[in-house]
Amino acid sequence: MTSTDPIDPVAFRAFEHAGWQRAAEHYPDAFGSLTSQTIASLLDAVRLEPGTKLLDVASGPGFVAAAAAERGAIVVGVDFSPAMVDYARRRHPTLTFMEGDAEKLRLPDRNFDAVVMNFGLLHLARPEAAVSEAFRVLRTGGRYSFTVWAKPEVAAGFGIVLRAIETHGTIDVGLPIGPAFFRFSDPGECRRCLLEAGFDHVEVRELPLAWRLASADSLFDAMSRGAVRTTALLYGQTPENLSAIREAIRTTVRQYARGDAIVVPMGAVIASAIKS
Ligand SMILES: C[S@@+](CC[C@H](N)C(=O)[O-])C[C@H]1O[C@@H](n2cnc3c(N)ncnc32)[C@H](O)[C@@H]1O
Repeated sequence: MTSTDPIDPVAFRAFEHAGWQRAAEHYPDAFGSLTSQTIASLLDAVRLEPGTKLLDVASGPGFVAAAAAERGAIVVGVDFSPAMVDYARRRHPTLTFMEGDAEKLRLPDRNFDAVVMNFGLLHLARPEAAVSEAFRVLRTGGRYSFTVWAKPEVAAGFGIVLRAIETHGTIDVGLPIGPAFFRFSDPGECRRCLLEAGFDHVEVRELPLAWRLASADSLFDAMSRGAVRTTALLYGQTPENLSAIREAIRTTVRQYARGDAIVVPMGAVIASAIKS
């Protein structure tokens, strides 16, 4: 999921937007048990307390926003997919979710004590713009934290799927060119981007998540419905190659069976910083 061709931010954003509109109903079941594992670390990183004014950017189904509200925060969730916003509002009717673009927030300067983004940055056409926007809407002394996936060797679910595609199909299926999916898996990239936006006290570390799968088919099922770039990569294959890819993923996932459980390691990276 990398290319040396120039990024086309307009086409890439439109592709991601259409993808999330489609994936919204599948994403909570496909990825919710996984992406929710970082919530406590994110909220701790921004020192969330009762009364903290928190902005959850790329809020999706509202997992982080809901957990923060339970800890007493005053929360706003923002996401560019109306289908995601609708889902979050239905699931959490007492919380505030609004449609908006992470790269150009329609929110005033210095309005929040804390901003978080759980697995959003790697979906953006202009991630630097989103980090600058987080900086803008934070008050002085406010804290920012985001998560992304670690490299595919560490986020093994992605490694398994991408290896199967490379072996039995092709990664060249004509997707719009966006920033490299694993760009921010590199702690140096997180640090550079945060410092350039004006943040300091930058900290970056890995979080060892574990994906408990219901069956050997669950990884393919999740990736083929609940994601965007990976889903499009799968559906860009010929039917014969797609069946070979599915079989290869199933075979590899079985190697992670321990008794009745199948647990695939899915390392994440968490970065946090302060607007001093
Ligand atoms: C992987 S999901 C993460 C959802 C949620 N934060 C979680 O904890 O699971 C990525 C989310 O980013 C949203 N998104 C992608 N690009 C965006 C943008 N430019 N502005 C706002 N939201 C965006 C998508 O609609 C989707 O809900």
